Amino acid sequence: MSHFEPFDFKQSEELLKTSEHLGYKLPFSKDISSLFERTDINGTEVPNRFAVHPMEGCDAYQNGAPSKWTHRRYQRYAEGGSGLIWFEATAVTNESRSNPRQLSINNENMRFFKALVNEVRAAASNRFGRSHRVYCVLQLTHSGRYSQSVLGSKPKVAQFNPFLDGNPEEIQIIRDEELDHLQDDFLEAARLAFHSGFDAVDIKCCHGYLINELLGAFNRKNSQYGGSFENRSRFMTEVFQKVDANTQALDLCSRISVFDGIPYPYGFGFAKKTSLDIDMTEITVFLRRLMILGGSLFNISAGNPHAKPHISRPYDRAFPGTGIPEEHPLEGVIRLIKTASHLQSQFPEVPFVGTGYSWLRQFFPYVGAAVIQQKKAAFIGLGRSSLAYPDAPLDLMEKGHLDKNKVCITCSRCSELMKKRVKTGCVMQDPFVYGAEYKKSKNE
Ligand SMILES: Cc1cc2nc3c(=O)[nH]c(=O)nc-3n(C[C@H](O)[C@H](O)[C@H](O)COP(=O)(O)O)c2cc1C
Repeated sequence: MSHFEPFDFKQSEELLKTSEHLGYKLPFSKDISSLFERTDINGTEVPNRFAVHPMEGCDAYQNGAPSKWTHRRYQRYAEGGSGLIWFEATAVTNESRSNPRQLSINNENMRFFKALVNEVRAAASNRFGRSHRVYCVLQLTHSGRYSQSVLGSKPKVAQFNPFLDGNPEEIQIIRDEELDHLQDDFLEAARLAFHSGFDAVDIKCCHGYLINELLGAFNRKNSQYGGSFENRSRFMTEVFQKVDANTQALDLCSRISVFDGIPYPYGFGFAKKTSLDIDMTEITVFLRRLMILGGSLFNISAGNPHAKPHISRPYDRAFPGTGIPEEHPLEGVIRLIKTASHLQSQFPEVPFVGTGYSWLRQFFPYVGAAVIQQKKAAFIGLGRSSLAYPDAPLDLMEKGHLDKNKVCITCSRCSELMKKRVKTGCVMQDPFVYGAEYKKSKNE
């Protein structure tokens, strides 16, 4: 096990050396042209290999529609040059929202999502020309145990989990009939996303939210959604079938936590016997099934950020109350790169988006370019970096390198804002909006 050390690399050689000490030859290429190669997703052209990861902004209206702050964030992404924008977690029902400021799509507010997609595409093509058409994915979610309480109700969970639940009285296990019904809510939300102009919907299966939790619901008793792999993967496979049958022109995809960091039998993706070794057997079968059912793009993530944030997003500064992670952040980055790479090599015909690049700061383009060249992923996904430095792709296009004064420093302040359920963005690089919000939140 490595020790925690914050980012302290002046030269790329130092980064590569540390990676070698950690037992991995980090992909690295000074030639970054591969990041600008066009590609396609299920026949739709994408102008380059930069993907903005889904990032909740906690700035929607009460009715779930995007606000002017949501528009601002996405406009910045579009004008920054990323070819793929993966829109943030959007609840399929009001009750499944993580907070009252999470996006939620419904019949009444669909036209506002349509306006947002149109604006994003227009902003990108005004800046980069008509051939630069941004591929837009909408992430659909049920927040499960992390849903807001509605009228005093308890959050719905897939199973009782002693690693996450203090008191079984405080949670409510979602019933099979509710899950059957929820499948139709996902279908309806997908239909609305299609009519809003999105290219694809993501049935969100990561980070401990409900659908992801079902994958690890070994202890869910007397249920067609728990126990066996067949049952645990039922919700996803049935939703994929339904969406594919009803909205064929819409691409289907998923963001998946390959493992959630919680040992068997309460979590997904760890070997049953040794408990803390990642086991990709089930995820490989799962992905193959989803591809047969129409899955055409996958975004690979890991962990449950509510339980162990350093697995999902390696950082330098811990979120207050989280403590110093038990490993070197680069080890977390390497794990994410290796995981996506392993799966991409199993399924070379389907594009995968990789995660974990923001911690690499000004060196991420060189690692990302090599990852693309070596076909370890088809897209380089950027989360916190997109908040801090949305025009990183543009700077790379025009100058050939990043400005190291503009990079994300993984300070976790965006996560703090999100946790407080206030307008979320980069406190350091977008101070007039989010620095002010952070100050306000500290004084409350
Ligand atoms: C403020 C914040 C909001 C996030 N919202 C989402 C989300 O809506 N959906 C999702 O799948 N991941 C979400 N994530 C995780 C990111 O998409 C990404 O996986 C993570 O930050 C690691 O990538 P990075 O190292 O490039 O930041 C969020 C992360 C942060 C910090």
